[in-house]
Amino acid sequence: METMRIGIHKRKGSFSERWISYCQEKGIAYKVVNCFENDIIEQLADCDALMWHHHHESARDIQVAKQLLFALEGSGKVVFPDFSSSWHFDDKVGQKYLFESIGAPLVPSYPFYTRKEALEWANTTTFPKVFKLRGGAASDNVKLVKTRSHAIRLIKRAFGRGFKRYKPLGSLNERWRLFKMGRTSFFDVLKGWIRIVRPTYFARLLKRDRGYVYFQEFIPGNSHDIRLTYVFDRIVAFRRQVRPRDFRASGSYILDKDQANIPPEALRIAFEVAHKLKFQSAALDFIMKDSDPLIVEVCYAFVPWEGLFSFGYWDRDLNLHPGAFNALDWMVDGVLEKLQHRSR
Ligand SMILES: Nc1ncnc2c1ncn2[C@@H]1O[C@H](COP(=O)(O)OP(=O)(O)O)[C@@H](O)[C@H]1O
Ligand SMILES: [Mg+2]
Repeated sequence: METMRIGIHKRKGSFSERWISYCQEKGIAYKVVNCFENDIIEQLADCDALMWHHHHESARDIQVAKQLLFALEGSGKVVFPDFSSSWHFDDKVGQKYLFESIGAPLVPSYPFYTRKEALEWANTTTFPKVFKLRGGAASDNVKLVKTRSHAIRLIKRAFGRGFKRYKPLGSLNERWRLFKMGRTSFFDVLKGWIRIVRPTYFARLLKRDRGYVYFQEFIPGNSHDIRLTYVFDRIVAFRRQVRPRDFRASGSYILDKDQANIPPEALRIAFEVAHKLKFQSAALDFIMKDSDPLIVEVCYAFVPWEGLFSFGYWDRDLNLHPGAFNALDWMVDGVLEKLQHRSR
């Protein structure tokens, strides 16, 4: 069989570093490409696949990553992440329809596209609810709405001047909290200060969120959320504790790695959803409503924090496999397998 070559877009601090060293280790043919160059299609002429770990807060990535990946997929190359895994990346509104379309247990979610309909709803529903922007991570754009009047204020703003995604003060606060936990450097805290006077290029570039508003049912009583990271038919599982005096777990980095605390039903749902929706990789967040796991959101990429691959993974028969592995390698394996399968 002819050799299959994988094109990899290299970015410091991204999955690409591991992908490249894994290819070197295993003797897998690869080529480093630059997706921002005009001749990228030509660069990929001798490649059968493209892997690009693009980021939702990169000013450049968000301009072109999905478009390039999906164009190549349409032309017959294997790409990671592919369309099924990532058209809904950083878009919680899109995810509502995605999960509802297969009857997956999503937290009840209410998007509105006119001020009038949103206000009618707010005037007749009960509170608390959760307000979210469609994009963002680490709980940045997620708020508890305790009263009708707060909801009405948010709705008026959503159909008025809109919302900024990047909030420098909130970001500084989080940097300080993570620094005290030993999760980030003092330099990062300093950067947080600088961001107040000089926001990132990404923050200045991004349009405000307006013209829609998105609420979810508030599911009370969750001390943790459950993060199930599905990668090509295996799942790495852990829980995250909510921040002190807060309902939000995402980004807290207060981690519970005890696999006995992972509800098997959540694992079952994650495998089923990933298979039905043909995900390559999917970090799924769950919260519990009594004993029922509900999906909060999905994201093709995740933070591969130190130790994430040290407490085992689950297979589709819900067996736990302890021992050393790296789920980023499975992405390369998954792409290769698809290529081999196709050439047969
Ligand atoms: N509807 C909800 N009810 C209760 N808690 C929620 C709800 N939605 C989110 N949360 C909590 O808030 C956190 C952040 O929400 P999420 O939608 O995952 O945003 P992000 O993209 O910032 O991770 C979750 O990890 C969970 O702990
Ligand atoms: Mg989340």
